[in-house]
Amino acid sequence: MFSEGLKGIVAAQTSISHIDGSEGILIYRGYEIGELSHLSFEEASFLLWYGYLPTEEDAVEIKKKLSTYRDLTPAMKDILHSLPEEMDIMSVLRTVISSLGGSEYKWKPTIEQSLRLTAVTPTIIADRFNMLMGRPLLEADTELSHVENYLFMLTGKSPSKAVADALETYMVLTMEHGMNASAFSARVTASTESDLVSAITSAIGTMKGPLHGGAPSGVIDLMNEIGVAERAETIIREKLVKGEKLMGFGHRVYKTHDPRALALRKKLLENKGGDSSLDLALFVEKKAIELLDELKPGRSLYTNVEFYAAAIMKSINLPTDLFTPTFTAARIVGWSAHVLEQAENNTIFRPQSEYIGKRNLSV
Ligand code: ACO
Repeated sequence: MFSEGLKGIVAAQTSISHIDGSEGILIYRGYEIGELSHLSFEEASFLLWYGYLPTEEDAVEIKKKLSTYRDLTPAMKDILHSLPEEMDIMSVLRTVISSLGGSEYKWKPTIEQSLRLTAVTPTIIADRFNMLMGRPLLEADTELSHVENYLFMLTGKSPSKAVADALETYMVLTMEHGMNASAFSARVTASTESDLVSAITSAIGTMKGPLHGGAPSGVIDLMNEIGVAERAETIIREKLVKGEKLMGFGHRVYKTHDPRALALRKKLLENKGGDSSLDLALFVEKKAIELLDELKPGRSLYTNVEFYAAAIMKSINLPTDLFTPTFTAARIVGWSAHVLEQAENNTIFRPQSEYIGKRNLSV
């Protein structure tokens, strides 16, 4: 049987996450995502790796471990410095991660290895970003949490609670999403009994493509174009009449509300303060859903995670170049959970292809 892009094919059994697109449900290890949006990055990582929620002691321990492994080795720093300036951050991340692979990363993959790669990822991103900005590289602050330290290393300042909270919720909600292209890619590499570093390198390469790591920048462009609430209806209507897709709406899997968008919106409302861009986002969402209902009836189009991710990125002033790398810094947790699961009960992936070329030619 041939299925283009393996659509509809079940490629693995998993107990890491489950998506029900018609009901708008995303489950991590048995918990609906809305239940987990208060977790810290460290706690959510623990859940995905170990399969159960951490105790208080576990939470302290994993936080400590993630903070211990943040520093780059001298060899990683050398590579970082030697890469051409025009190289994008995802390519840099892929290259620096792939430079690892000593005996500590040998098959079989372990949670310890997953911790190390997860811990070092924000440092690579922040160091590269600071190099591009002509700023000095900062030492990680082990007193700060994983997400706080990432923001600190990017900006040189300890983030406010609201900013760290917003980014943390985004990262927790986007850590894992079933058999997406990059998780599949990581599992395929791991299925040959290759090491975790190779599997994560494959996944980063897959995430880099615009069809997957699609950043929320399209939504930010839309919001900038609209600018003020009074212009929302005209601009949205014009786009829909021209047959354009509204960025931040619709989803291949969710045919109702994307539960991650709902959880992000809730978090943004909790921390709203005086942020007027959130008022605009809420207004645009309402208007767009009314217009989609009118002009695209029956398609069940709602905001997807990118819509409110854009609001978060904007509220914390994260530069566009860091959107996909930041998504990667979250998703690496899901990838490593998939690799661990693959290794537990491994069978090499070896699908078939259907030959549609010529036959019986002679020279
Ligand atoms: N704006 C307007 N119309 C839309 C939108 C949208 N955002 N999304 C779907 N539609 C319409 C289509 O035009 C189509 O209409 P038709 O029946 O008249 O032809 C109908 O809804 C079904 O569209 P499909 O493209 O078949 O929907 P699909 O589920 O395949 O696409 C996709 C999902 C690609 C995400 C699409 O909704 C889209 O392009 N959205 C905008 C881009 C975006 O926000 N991407 C981020 C997705 S979230 C993520 O990747 C993590």
